[in-house]
Amino acid sequence: MSGVDTIDGQHKLIIKKIGELLTACKHGAGPEEALEMVVFMRDYCEEHFLWEEEYMVKYNYPHYLSHVRQHRECRKYFENIQEHVEKNGVGPDTVVVVNKKLVAWLLSHIRNTDLKMAEYLRNEM
Ligand SMILES: [Fe+2]
Repeated sequence: MSGVDTIDGQHKLIIKKIGELLTACKHGAGPEEALEMVVFMRDYCEEHFLWEEEYMVKYNYPHYLSHVRQHRECRKYFENIQEHVEKNGVGPDTVVVVNKKLVAWLLSHIRNTDLKMAEYLRNEM
């Protein structure tokens, strides 16, 4: 928990949605259903990234650029996953791709990068 309510709430929903996507993939979701979930998450994450980026600018966060670079990396992962599902449908390899790319990125980003930013914002807000 970062201590900034908006960020914590958004992170919670993102983690919940990833869990739902993984469960759906494991239980034989079709590509359409999976794509719908990926697109929802991509849009929601985009909203979340923009919120963070706006606050980093507003409060002159010194590590803004490296943080935004990481967001860009995640946008790329969403594109990769979307392409993967469009090309191959949904199967056990979808779960591997989602885990390897998205889950690994998110956990590390939330635990390290966002926490550092939230600590700064808490003092500035
Ligand atoms: Fe972030």
